[in-house]
Amino acid sequence: MKAVVVTQFGLNNAQISEVTAPILTEDGVRIRVQSSGVSFANLLVIEGKHQNRWEPPFTPGTEIAGVVEECGPAVTLFQPGDRVVAGVRTGGFAQEVVAPQRNVFALPASVSFDAAVHFPTIYATAYGALKWRAQLQAQETLLVHGAAGGSGLAAIEIGKKLGARVIASSSTDAKLRVAEEHGADVLINYKQGGFREAVLAATDGRGADVIFDPVGGGTFDESLRCIAPDGRIIPMGFAGGTIPTVPANIVLVKNVTIIGIYWGYYMGWARQSPPPAMEQKVREAFSELLGWVAAGELRPRTHQAYALADFKEALSALSAQSVIGRSVLHP
Ligand SMILES: NC(=O)c1ccc[n+]([C@@H]2O[C@H](COP(=O)([O-])OP(=O)(O)OC[C@H]3O[C@@H](n4cnc5c(N)ncnc54)[C@H](OP(=O)(O)O)[C@@H]3O)[C@@H](O)[C@H]2O)c1
Repeated sequence: MKAVVVTQFGLNNAQISEVTAPILTEDGVRIRVQSSGVSFANLLVIEGKHQNRWEPPFTPGTEIAGVVEECGPAVTLFQPGDRVVAGVRTGGFAQEVVAPQRNVFALPASVSFDAAVHFPTIYATAYGALKWRAQLQAQETLLVHGAAGGSGLAAIEIGKKLGARVIASSSTDAKLRVAEEHGADVLINYKQGGFREAVLAATDGRGADVIFDPVGGGTFDESLRCIAPDGRIIPMGFAGGTIPTVPANIVLVKNVTIIGIYWGYYMGWARQSPPPAMEQKVREAFSELLGWVAAGELRPRTHQAYALADFKEALSALSAQSVIGRSVLHP
């Protein structure tokens, strides 16, 4: 099969190669990949800068959707021909993957493969972060940074589903218009003097109750200056390139809770496994999310679909901050 192979860290050291298809495991589902998500995290993995570090040679890619080709003997939920979406630890930029059954989810007939790849990480992370971890309540104010990125748009839509008022912060008015189309109530272009004053103005001086931050660095620091008392901040990614440092004195005086989330833990990819009941909880979350998208209540936005061979162009657009939503590869 064809796959993207990284022979040394760095995007320039990745190329398309003919490789052996992955071996089917006992609980594995072999999937012919129709669409594969192109994420900022892929870029970090390729550059050797992600917490999930693979030694070259490896094939990147973590979000795929396609058709089941064959199943290992322990697989009970799927059969050849099923349309599915899956999260994989790596290997998604390829024509075939083998994913353990616990990371594979049935795809409703009305949901396209391109829409599906928005779910294994970005909608799932937004759901886990806002619903499980921050316990965002209806009527609370949610501030979403990187609002037109993959994670940002997903957080806006999940925030609205949970009944919150959503403030979107982004670098351009064009991105903010898309954030508005996806449900944001208040739009802030942070290039025009930052976002603190605008957030305070939009909340009668109180600040945001929950802040979803995929950017980090100075964005995190400024967030602590416009968070409401008893607020929760979720530093869920560092697309800006700097991992922020938490000033414990501000956390203390403002009664702030800093909430971590690594979605991979719930998928069973961390060093410590989640409790066994988590597998069912994750399956129920996917069922709810995919039910919402099938009902038209979530609207994943595909920025652009590329051929597998154009993966470098697709990934470079992320560093240029020009992607709105998620781009996909068609292996
Ligand atoms: N914790 C988890 O389990 C989890 C799950 C998924 C993703 N993540 C992480 O979340 C982060 C965002 O992922 P994503 O897929 O949403 O990325 P994305 O689609 O590229 O969006 C990131 C956004 O960050 C903003 N940004 C600010 N400075 C940037 C810079 N120097 N380069 C690129 N973007 C910059 C951009 O918005 P503006 O132009 O509006 O500023 C961009 O739209 C990544 O670090 C990823 O690893 C974590």
